Amino acid sequence: MDHFELRGGAMHAEDVALAEIADAVGTPVYVYSAATIRRHARVFARAVGRLGMGAPLVAFAVKANPNAAVLSVLAAEGCGADVVSGGEIARALAAGIPGERIIFSGVGKTAEEMGYALDAGVGQFNLESEEEAEALSAVACARGAAAPVAFRVNPDVDAGTHAKISTGKSENKFGIPYDQALAAYARAAALPGLAVRGVAVHIGSQLVDLGPLAAAFARIGGLIADLRAAGHTIVTADLGGGLGVPYDPVLPPPPTPDAYAAMVDGATAGWNARLMFEPGRLIVGNAGVLLTRVVRVKPGVAAPFVIVDAGMNDLMRPALYDAWHDIRAVTPSGERFVANIVGPVCETGDTFATGRTMDAVTGGDLVAFMTAGAYAATMASTYNSRPLTPEVMVSGSQWAIVRRRLPIEALIAADDVPEWARTAA
Ligand code: LLP
Repeated sequence: MDHFELRGGAMHAEDVALAEIADAVGTPVYVYSAATIRRHARVFARAVGRLGMGAPLVAFAVKANPNAAVLSVLAAEGCGADVVSGGEIARALAAGIPGERIIFSGVGKTAEEMGYALDAGVGQFNLESEEEAEALSAVACARGAAAPVAFRVNPDVDAGTHAKISTGKSENKFGIPYDQALAAYARAAALPGLAVRGVAVHIGSQLVDLGPLAAAFARIGGLIADLRAAGHTIVTADLGGGLGVPYDPVLPPPPTPDAYAAMVDGATAGWNARLMFEPGRLIVGNAGVLLTRVVRVKPGVAAPFVIVDAGMNDLMRPALYDAWHDIRAVTPSGERFVANIVGPVCETGDTFATGRTMDAVTGGDLVAFMTAGAYAATMASTYNSRPLTPEVMVSGSQWAIVRRRLPIEALIAADDVPEWARTAA
């Protein structure tokens, strides 16, 4: 559920008319609803709250939306953070998330990032290979420390989602192969700079079926038993993220957090471990929209092209994963038409929808791309020299710009031109 609704015929974010924001900030602009973020965080925390040993850790996957205001709202809700870079650690700490509630995931941690994470007191490193275990041990030893670690285990399960966001098949780059896990733990346990404490798994994102997750967790349960039998202390089990959100209102909705929690309860019975979760999309996906204005409507052969002022550089998901986002007029007239919705970027891939039946719109109208709170602003680029889209957060009747639109001059100023480039050779 979200807080983007029609009131008096015009879409609002909570109590604020989207048109007011568009007029004040310009378009395109991302708009987030703080109440929606809080609600999702609470619903998830409540659903999983009684599972496992002790209070579970809900570590928001920062990659889904690293905006400082978003992280601050989640820090105030008591969330931890799942991070994949030194930059994400810095953002989590800056938002007030304590180091011990940070999980450092990611396939390519550098020695520098490892050192930074150790100094920040990161609560758990999820290792992706034996080579990485060696490297982390060396960095920790140099500090006289022992890094708390889990291995991310690749359970070789097909998550049933888009290939580009599947991570748990043996051919994917993520985690250590399931059948090599015992050997990897034995090697890690012998390293002086590591304190082995858990297992981790994450099989993919936008999962709309609990079956693959249940299958993966069943494999992890077996591994935990084997690891303990081999003498390892396993006190944490990190179950990753992945629960999907509704994008297309016509499709059956993904499982609820309660249904997910019931599955986890069954799958983890007898594990005697503290559970950790890394939801990203579930928390913020439906808490944001991309607000854009129609530049003009151009006739097309099969259907007209609705050209909006947001491009693939602002919202990459359709171009990258053929992702489907609901597209609605901010002030719908009630009329519908079939159109292609495209951006201004010079690529055919800059297409948000083809042959879409949608609210009829014309030049100057505002349009909202729904479910744009996750993997949206954060994946934007300045391609075509388009400044990054600003972000706004609404809370009740208040709203604020939470990321400014930098002028093109700022982009140009970041480039340096050596003198020899200015003269013909
Ligand atoms: N934990 C790990 C280790 C992950 O790799 C991810 C996401 C998450 C947690 C959070 O997953 P979530 O709960 O959000 O599904 N850009 C793509 C999604 C990439 C997901 C990457 N990993 C998209 O726009 O669909």
